Amino acid sequence: MKVAVIGAGTMGSGIAQTFAQCDEVETVYLCDIKEEFAEGGLGKVKKNVDKLVSKGKIDQAKADAIIGKFKTGLNTIATDADLVVEAALERMDIKKNCFKDLEENIVKNPDCIFASNTSSLSITEIGAGLKTPVIGMHFFNPAPVMKLIEVIKGANTPDETVEKVEEIARKLGKTPVRVQESAGFVANRILIPMINEGIFVYSEGVADIEGVDNAMKLGCNHPMGPLELGDYIGLDIVLAIMNVLYTETADSKYRPAPLLKKMVRAGHLGVKSGRGFYDYSQGFKNKVPVDKQ
Ligand code: 3HC
Repeated sequence: MKVAVIGAGTMGSGIAQTFAQCDEVETVYLCDIKEEFAEGGLGKVKKNVDKLVSKGKIDQAKADAIIGKFKTGLNTIATDADLVVEAALERMDIKKNCFKDLEENIVKNPDCIFASNTSSLSITEIGAGLKTPVIGMHFFNPAPVMKLIEVIKGANTPDETVEKVEEIARKLGKTPVRVQESAGFVANRILIPMINEGIFVYSEGVADIEGVDNAMKLGCNHPMGPLELGDYIGLDIVLAIMNVLYTETADSKYRPAPLLKKMVRAGHLGVKSGRGFYDYSQGFKNKVPVDKQ
């Protein structure tokens, strides 16, 4: 199977690594709007694969084989893909244009599956106007580690495509969960409002940053607290998903926390910008809560 991943950011590169680690995948096209972005994504994969070697999880030959499957470049290299997974920016216009261009100008394989890794947008709308049906194939960060793939059926997604994507998810060692189209699907509809609530709790002065995170880690066995996890996902992504939940449902329970909006406006996006609820200038493991600085 030849797989094209469109978008070489955190999710795109993690998804590409997940496919490259699967024996049934022969080629992974990692694409972005600039060749250097795609190469940067491959750089992240190389670092992760090197870690697997140094931990003794795989040998050097396996690592070389994984990296050897990659071809990086613009979307135009994906002509003979069997599966496209779009992991571009979380904007409807970008996703629609990306698939339109792939269908009209790039992908020559008539059986190619078009999948989107959107975290909350409508699969039906992403696929509107295309001949090829679009399906949601939603991975979780870090993609090589997290076991879930939400498989989202849009109004025009045939059952056959859903079954094929579920089968691919199993081959990747993941568990697919079939989801009907709905804002935020299942996991983000529950998770992201919880993070937003954590931000409200902190901004109301109920507890400090570590207090909010420790309460959920130690009291509920979550691997990360809500503020830490918001930083890890990216506060801009958290806000984008809250906005989709809020506008799609018009339900005030999904209103984004004012502090979340303020932080995104300030460019304090979490790990990727070096600062969110924590300061990451000393590295991820040595992060310092900004209210203790
Ligand atoms: N890529 C590949 N592997 C990674 C990784 C990455 N980016 N980050 C961590 N890992 C691996 C490590 O190598 C390690 O592997 P090992 O156990 O085989 O040695 C394992 O994951 C555990 O990592 P660490 O020991 O470094 O650290 P932790 O034990 O603290 O685990 C974590 C890190 C897996 C990220 C854990 O804290 C966790 O599960 N956090 C919650 C993550 C989560 O909720 N993700 C979902 C976000 S929502 C989302 O993605 C949806 C989107 O639409 C917004």
